[in-house]
Amino acid sequence: MFLLLFGGFIGFTGYQLVWDERAQLLTSMFVAMLRSIPAFGATLTRLFIGGLGISDGTLVRILFLHIGPATALYAFLWWHYVRLRHPKIWPPGVWVLFCVGLVFLLAGVVPMTRETIPAAAPAAHPTSFPMDVFFLIPFWLLNFLPAGVVVLLLVALFVGGLAIPYASRRETPVEMGVRHSGVAQVIDGNCTGCELCYYDCPYNAIVMVPSPGPGLSKAAANRSLLAVVIESRCVECGICIGACPFEALELPKFLERDVLRQVAEALRPGSGQAVRA
Ligand code: HEM
Ligand code: SF4
Ligand code: SF4
Repeated sequence: MFLLLFGGFIGFTGYQLVWDERAQLLTSMFVAMLRSIPAFGATLTRLFIGGLGISDGTLVRILFLHIGPATALYAFLWWHYVRLRHPKIWPPGVWVLFCVGLVFLLAGVVPMTRETIPAAAPAAHPTSFPMDVFFLIPFWLLNFLPAGVVVLLLVALFVGGLAIPYASRRETPVEMGVRHSGVAQVIDGNCTGCELCYYDCPYNAIVMVPSPGPGLSKAAANRSLLAVVIESRCVECGICIGACPFEALELPKFLERDVLRQVAEALRPGSGQAVRA
């Protein structure tokens, strides 16, 4: 939800940057939304558009508010990718490059045609604009709802989205006992010392120690480090199992091969459990 709203804000400031009549009207609507916020309205308006109305400083603010969050988003996505990348589920690099290339090629061959909207002018008083239902939906809502209600809805979406993970019911001790699958175990022979599990364990339950000797598998023959699970910290979440590309971690009562078999069975046509689109 955070990403959706954050991305929506970046898209909205992008439309403002074009500075045509749509941008002009969007900015006025945005100001109305900000001013509807009790107590902080005027401060937020100054923060977001550099004054209480459109002024010389407005476009510079908007440029910063577009590029700053977009750059932060890329940085976070990259950080996320580096932390959670899993070679088994990530498509091979060549496929990724092919898809990116295809998008660029298609954008060149079939460029998006845009409506021409007149440039913004102080004397212009636009009353409508071509709609983008993805980025500009809150502004469409302003057709039917007062600005304050739309702001309230956005805040509710944001807070509600953040609260979802905490709203689910907690397991009872009995349910936890049934689920208990034993702390993660390192399969010494397979561990290459790559440290992926060490970085991915959210509970700091894995440490890397100097390897007492080479591993058994070919990949692990030249390792210098070995992963060790600190049992008192492990909550059996299984994240490290997914992080390890070398099948060197297991939850004893929840073996990877059993899970994969269950998934394969569930996906078999006619199993009655297949995931349907
Ligand atoms: C999550 C990333 C981003 C999203 C979703 C996004 C979205 C948009 C959108 C929807 C527009 C309006 C397009 C139009 O109708 O012309 C736009 C315009 C613009 N964006 Fe972005 N953008 C992103 C990242 C960036 C970054 C990183 C930069 C610069 C380093 C940038 C610079 C601009 C500029 C200069 C314009 C104005 C283009 C014009 O005047 O036609 N954007 N953006
Ligand atoms: S199962 Fe979870 S808590 Fe335990 S070592 Fe693996 S990632 Fe860490
Ligand atoms: S257990 Fe797996 S992910 Fe962790 S260091 Fe060893 S090979 Fe790498």
